[in-house]
Formats: sequence, structure tokens, C-alpha cells
Amino acid sequence: MVLLSIVCFQWLCGAPLAEEFEQKGYVELSDALHGSNTYNALYASFDELIVFLQNNAIWTHKLCSAKERFLRSKEKHHYSTDVLGFYDESERTERHQISFYYSTHFHDFLHSRYPEFGEVSAIAHFLDACYEIQQSSSDLFSEAAGKLGVDAIFEGRAPPILLKVIKYFSSYTVKRPHYDGSAFSLFLDSTDNQSLHLSSYKASLTSDDFSSPPRQFSRSVLLIPGAFLIEFSIFPTPHIALPNGKIRYATIAFAMRPNYACPKIEYSSLPSFK
Ligand SMILES: [Fe+2]
Repeated sequence: MVLLSIVCFQWLCGAPLAEEFEQKGYVELSDALHGSNTYNALYASFDELIVFLQNNAIWTHKLCSAKERFLRSKEKHHYSTDVLGFYDESERTERHQISFYYSTHFHDFLHSRYPEFGEVSAIAHFLDACYEIQQSSSDLFSEAAGKLGVDAIFEGRAPPILLKVIKYFSSYTVKRPHYDGSAFSLFLDSTDNQSLHLSSYKASLTSDDFSSPPRQFSRSVLLIPGAFLIEFSIFPTPHIALPNGKIRYATIAFAMRPNYACPKIEYSSLPSFK
């Protein structure tokens, strides 16, 4: 197991990381640990969770109350965001998606304060699957911060990770790309890699600047900078998940910053997509 965790993600880039981000907006790393089976199992357990929560409003409400309580606790400051837990936007116009934002601190919080969640298999299985997957990103985020010389952002601790699992419905639409509110975002898996389009950061952007990054490996992950590194003159990578008219799933790990207030900065405006 030790050997596996060391070789989980392999850096392929030759140039310094800051240069790769500036020129391409991303780096690709081969994924030697996870096969598609791991993510198919995660998406199956996400579907179980969705069905359970859509049919048991009392548990959805309970999960929401637990999240609100977590956000009032000290633990929240590990992540510097209010985004957490279950978001059902399946019926919302121009969204048509459902996502879950997982963090180990929230998982521990549920475990200690709401042990009853552990007795509902649809919830417990999904949280356990998220725990297993997010673990592998921690070393990669630390290494990336080291390569950029920005290690201090994690305050000497393990990077705080938010794992997002998302289901897009066939009616999903999107108008514009966006920048992530993270230090780094790691696109771990997608059931359609071609849907993700990105561009390196530029002073002026048009839709023609965006494309789906070519992959060198059959299983790989993409690392991009988010908006939380701007004080180091590292600009966020604009990106967009385009609709493909089908149900699709994706998993993304966000490295957050503890005790961080993101400065209000006007980045390059983002083009609309037809
Ligand atoms: Fe994003």
C-alpha cells in the first residue's frame, strides 16, 4: 500500500510548474492507482445517495442542519468556504445537476455528533467512498505547492481537500466558463473527458481559446490553479464543463486554504458559449 500511494500520480511535465500553468493552464499527471472501476463504484453509491435523499426529505433536512452547524464551528476555517454537502439542482433551470462536496472534517463531525448517519447505508457508503478517493490527492497538492514555493498556504498541515462528486443530467446547460475558488483544482475523473474545456489565463479571452486538453495517458488527472494563489502572481485557469446531452458524472478535488479571505479581484472577463 505504501508503494501504491507513492506512485499514485506521476508528474509528466519537464518545465517548471509555474511555467506550465502560464503556458497551458494545466498539467497532466498519470493516475497509476485508480481504475474506472473505482469511480464507477463511487457514482453508483452517489446514485444510491441521491435516490435515498430525494425520497427521505427528513434525512435531507437533517444533513442540511448538520452542515449549518458545522459551518458555525471552528472546523469550517480549514476550508474558508461555505460550500459543503448536498446540492440538488436537478430541477433548476440552466443547472440540471446534483453535487456533493465532501470533506474529512465534515465526515468526522457527522460521525461524532450525528452517529445515526452511519446507520443509513446509502449515506455511510458514499461518505466512505469519498474518504478513500480524496486521500490520494493530499500528497499531490503538497508537492504542487512545494514546486511553486507556496507551501505556506497550508500552514504546515495536510492540504484541506474538498471533494466534489457531480452528476450532470442530459438537460444540463451552461453559458460561461468560470474560475475556481480554490488553491488548486484536480480533475480526477469524468465519464466524458471531452466535456472539459479550458484555456490558459489571458488578458482577453474568447470561446476559441478554450479546448479539451489532449491526454497522453489512458488514465490521467489534470491539475489547474484556482483563484487562491493570486498573491503569488499565479492566475487561475478559466474552464467550462460543456453539455454533451447525456447523463455524465465527474469527480474533482479542490485544495482549499485555511483561514483565507480571497481578495476581490477582477479577472479577465469570460466569453459566453452558445
Ligand atoms: Fe470549476
